[in-house]
Amino acid sequence: MTETGTTGGQRQTWTSNRGFILAAIGSAVGLGNIWRFPGVAYDSGGGAFLIPYLIALVTAGLPILFLDYAIGQRFRGSAPLALRRLWRKAEVIGWFQTMLLFIISVYYAAVIAWALSYFYFSFGNKWGSDTASFFVDDYLQASEPGISSELVAGVAWPLALVWVAIIIVLALGIAGGVEKVNVIGIPLLVLGFGALVIRAVTLPGAADGLNALFTPDWGELGNLNVWIAAYSQIFFSMSIAFGIMIAYSSFQRRRSNMTSSGLVVGFANSSFEILAGIGVFSALGFLAHQEGVGVADLEGLTGPILSFVTFPAVISEMPGSALFGALFFGSLVIAGFTSLVSLVVGVSVAIQEKFGLSQRVAAVVVGVVCAVVSFGLFATTTGLFALDTVDMFANNIGVVSSAIAMCVAVVWFARKGDLLRLHLNSVSTFELGKWWLPLIGVFAPVFLLVMMIQKIVDVINNGYEGYPDWYINLFGWGTVALAVIGAIVGTAISWRGRDDPAFRPWPSVDFLEGQKR
Ligand code: ALA
Repeated sequence: MTETGTTGGQRQTWTSNRGFILAAIGSAVGLGNIWRFPGVAYDSGGGAFLIPYLIALVTAGLPILFLDYAIGQRFRGSAPLALRRLWRKAEVIGWFQTMLLFIISVYYAAVIAWALSYFYFSFGNKWGSDTASFFVDDYLQASEPGISSELVAGVAWPLALVWVAIIIVLALGIAGGVEKVNVIGIPLLVLGFGALVIRAVTLPGAADGLNALFTPDWGELGNLNVWIAAYSQIFFSMSIAFGIMIAYSSFQRRRSNMTSSGLVVGFANSSFEILAGIGVFSALGFLAHQEGVGVADLEGLTGPILSFVTFPAVISEMPGSALFGALFFGSLVIAGFTSLVSLVVGVSVAIQEKFGLSQRVAAVVVGVVCAVVSFGLFATTTGLFALDTVDMFANNIGVVSSAIAMCVAVVWFARKGDLLRLHLNSVSTFELGKWWLPLIGVFAPVFLLVMMIQKIVDVINNGYEGYPDWYINLFGWGTVALAVIGAIVGTAISWRGRDDPAFRPWPSVDFLEGQKR
């Protein structure tokens, strides 16, 4: 599907609003929902975490999602092009977001590769009885934080498969590839993960797991770190402020209802997240029950360890375990893959537009470059530590600073906040009131800035996970520096592609001004 844009060129579109909504849900529902949310919620006050989480959703998640939607649909480009059309100097923010997408893609793919391997290992519980040493020593062959060029074959093969599949999907285009993957993948994910949750809540001990997850520790609400965790979770999980949603909504038709779609996407994402919490913690309750200990006594309830060490231990304890394992790791693969597609689309469309490439050439070039970096850093014996460090810095510092910069640039420098609100209202059934402007212009940037400074001070004073300083400098601060340098270089390169001076946003400014209320 294509539309003739005012650029005179052909821009692809989703075949329907349903296609867009499914793709946006596919982007949002990812590893963040399954491997990150349950552990973060448990660590950050259990049931009480739902309060900062919902506040983060309403005060920053949905408002910034709408901002991404408005920029993409009105200015019809990837983050660099759309932000440049909004305000010339904002192109650099678009390249910063594109760099973050690139950085997140290369490690995100590695986790999907692990999940693919574990999908296979589920048949016959190949991880044995010591799941921790299987994951770290046998599977990842992890040494210690450092630099290694030694490829781990067990990771490299599935990783190659992931990248080949990504290149094919991207080369097939938005409607022919990306939309189709989501139209098939999302219902499959809901069915598969739904079946897993139903099985999990009927296991002995499930209630203890749910109590551990949902019993509120109200004292945690006074802890700034809990609020930081809630906002970071919402950003990563909703795929906002890193250019994906700008690119996806640039393929929406001009008259598509945006805010109502956004509410559906936000609600679906958070519902899936809570469902994942219920499924994972019911299963952990079962494990504690089998081992005769309390859920709090179990180890490894966060991050990769939860999915790849603790969960396999649950699976081993279960009758009919192969099916349960296949459902869990199959869900991780599907959820992760539909999100990875969106991460790489953001990069590929940006490169395609800047250099005037065809969609296929851009898909292959970007896919191959990402794959090479992905192999070099994350399919090696030091992949686990590099992944953990890059993930922490890219999200807590990269994505948060990108959100601050975008909100400030739109509202205070370009002064286009109200115009974007009118744009959304002119095409949507759920109208945004003036309350949206202080949320994106003041509350979100101020709160995010406080949160980011707190995180930076914490890392400077306490380091991260006990990794050596040189390692944090290289993989942590190096990630941030790479994104900044990439943003500057990306902006400095001259446009050979779609920066058409004849581009006119629709509806016109005059029309929108006339609609003002
Ligand atoms: N939104 C995606 C996730 O949650 C990136 O994993």
